[in-house]
Amino acid sequence: MTRFPSGFLWGVATGAHQTEGGNVASDWWHRENRPGTDVAERCGDAVDSYHRWPEDLDLAAGAGFTDYRFGVEWSRIEPADGHVSPAAVAHYRRVVEGAVARGLRPMATLHHFTLPLWFAAGGGWLRPDASDRFLRYVDALAPVLDAGVAYVETINEPNIVAVFPKLAASGGLARGLPVPDEATAEAMIAVHRATVARLRANHPGLRVGWGVSVQDYQAEPGAEAALEAYAEPRDQMFLRASAGDDFVGVQTYTGARVLADGSVAGNRATERTQTGWEFTPAALGGAVRRVARVLPDVPIVVTENGVATADDTRRIVYTTGALESLRAAMDDGADVRGYFHWSLLDNWEWGHWGPTFGLVAVDRATFARLPKPSLAWLGSLAPTRTPGEGA
Ligand code: BGC
Repeated sequence: MTRFPSGFLWGVATGAHQTEGGNVASDWWHRENRPGTDVAERCGDAVDSYHRWPEDLDLAAGAGFTDYRFGVEWSRIEPADGHVSPAAVAHYRRVVEGAVARGLRPMATLHHFTLPLWFAAGGGWLRPDASDRFLRYVDALAPVLDAGVAYVETINEPNIVAVFPKLAASGGLARGLPVPDEATAEAMIAVHRATVARLRANHPGLRVGWGVSVQDYQAEPGAEAALEAYAEPRDQMFLRASAGDDFVGVQTYTGARVLADGSVAGNRATERTQTGWEFTPAALGGAVRRVARVLPDVPIVVTENGVATADDTRRIVYTTGALESLRAAMDDGADVRGYFHWSLLDNWEWGHWGPTFGLVAVDRATFARLPKPSLAWLGSLAPTRTPGEGA
């Protein structure tokens, strides 16, 4: 099996809203509970990780992982405009301390699709004071970050966030990724840059970046220019905005072929995942190679990769292929420092409970965690690490 260098980050990724449950002050809670909601299945209690995080950490560390990506929920830290919850800050500080105590290096995501309702209702990312409000939240997180967070992903998939305003109108992701909304994209880039500067000033040891959704777009013969035109607004402009960061997070699940007329077609895989995406393990290596071309001077961390399947043997097949393609990209010069699998747990997939990405199943009535064989398998591949060693 493919091996990775000593010190390579070997982690599992989770997100706040998809696992915690009861994020009652968030825009998504409001959306899923309003009459006539467009949310097919409620997140509700999610998988109760807000209370069961010690079990989650035990599972990750027990399997052999050395790194843990988790989300901090802004709507818990600042449930009302200008009012920080000391109890929520203390909660996330305990999570970080718990990770460190188990030998897990924490990576914190500060924004993963959900917003405090008050911020969203006031215009969200397009508010003129978006950066100032986000920095106020970032400042409130000092006790959490200083408890041992090693890496910060400021924003999860800004290029998907910038697509949200257009998704409903376009007929959904199954019809290809719409061009991200330009104003939202620019606003998010500004928030990211301001956050990197603030974190560098106040927490010099932190490694800061953001996580971009990068799928493996390949040009058909003669479609090289079309590929550039397709990828530039959809992910490359967000990758370029990561110049100077400590790392760029790459989040890859599948790929597509770009044709000379600028349209996209499937990549000819016959198997589809539960989310309808083509089962293409080697998409990871392809995506990473393109990132290394677009942004050669910034180290890459794969902050999400995984597959929605009910068949855990297919998860192992997928992940084996993904890791082989990643290792081959590294052998060809891509500077990759780590891999986080999405996800530790089966969790709420943005309106649906059907797609299962987890290395661990969850009984949604009792919240019992039921490890799948892939958990021990992937954990056992962890590269060696000496204490304190980082990327
Ligand atoms: C998101 C996750 C999501 C995963 C699978 C990523 O776009 O960051 O929240 O669950 O993909 O769809």
